[in-house]
Amino acid sequence: MAEVLPYGRQTIEDDDVAAVAEALRADFLTTGPRVEAFERAFAETVGARHAVACSSGTAALHLAMLALGVGPGDVVIAPAITFAATANCARYQGAEVVFADVDAETGLMTPETLEEALSRLGGRRLAAVLPVHLAGNTVDLPAIRRLAEPAPLVEDACHALGTTMRFGNLTEQVGDGRHGALACFSFHPVKTITTGEGGMVTTPDAALADRLRLFRSHGIVRDPALFETPRAAPEPWAYEMQALGFNYRLPDVLCALGISQLAKLGRFAARRRALAFDYWRLLARYAPLVKAVAPPPHCDPALHLFTVLIDFETLGLDRGAVMGALAAKGVGSQVHYIPVHRHPYYRSRYGEIALPGAEAYYARCLSLPLYPAMADSDPERVIEALAAVLGL
Ligand SMILES: Cc1ncc(COP(=O)(O)O)c(C=O)c1O
Repeated sequence: MAEVLPYGRQTIEDDDVAAVAEALRADFLTTGPRVEAFERAFAETVGARHAVACSSGTAALHLAMLALGVGPGDVVIAPAITFAATANCARYQGAEVVFADVDAETGLMTPETLEEALSRLGGRRLAAVLPVHLAGNTVDLPAIRRLAEPAPLVEDACHALGTTMRFGNLTEQVGDGRHGALACFSFHPVKTITTGEGGMVTTPDAALADRLRLFRSHGIVRDPALFETPRAAPEPWAYEMQALGFNYRLPDVLCALGISQLAKLGRFAARRRALAFDYWRLLARYAPLVKAVAPPPHCDPALHLFTVLIDFETLGLDRGAVMGALAAKGVGSQVHYIPVHRHPYYRSRYGEIALPGAEAYYARCLSLPLYPAMADSDPERVIEALAAVLGL
């Protein structure tokens, strides 16, 4: 049987391994010079003023909530189609989540679905809106921002490193801080670049960047100039814990991998675009029963996931059985995502919520293999297998 294609996979090359080995032999395994170097390189790559590295995309989202001072009595709005962490980060802080519906064809929050979610705030303070750039496709940021104001946007950009956008005459990059107060990235292995576990927050705001750094490391301050308690004599050992923070640091060793991977972002993104282009071409003849999710017109995505929408109902097929049959042909697939409000935790907190766009997207979505190391011939192999399994 041919090699099994997973739906996503990291690309680790010899120079990545060498970079990690070099860091392992150096003086710092935890916080060292590679942390700042990774942050600087990342900020430059996405056009952000500040970038703060942390231990995961989930930590990035939680740090964003901490930096904004989100807390009990507050509400955030997050879309129903995402990974649970987008909503959970607000719950960590005791805030509540209003789930916005999504466009049934893209899975993205839209100005219309945000407006509807805003009508469900019930007089509570809106602390942030968390649009998700699902699969690498971005929401209409200017319109979403106008509706959210004065609440800030926290972009969940975990899928969208390398995506560019065009609004008016401006070409923008995800994470450049033109619309969002904060943008959160993940370096989990199936993402566009990886550090194993890892994350990054970008922001245009120096004060928010300081707060991200404070909460990343226990709320501890080491600079005597910033101490709240005056000291009569120097205390070389002194530090102050000024807020309740966490250990969300990303070690030097993983930053070494991040720096090495980031240098390949252009190549990785181009490969993802080329593979997606082949998929789009091959899938055209199967519409409307099988359709690739089309990127919004403002967006040139470096896709993290290649998602197809399959009309299982009309085909009279069960998605689990289709996934099993694909796996038997060596094609991995996955479902992104079970609507978050459907999970028992959120169902018991907020009850049943009718979000028809999310249901329609969820009922049809399937992620097919997409990662840089796929062979040129793989998209054809995948679509042939899919057509055979679907009887098309
Ligand atoms: C949309 C989205 N948000 C947040 C996360 C959390 O990232 P991490 O797994 O790095 O904690 C993920 C990762 O899977 C994700 O896909």
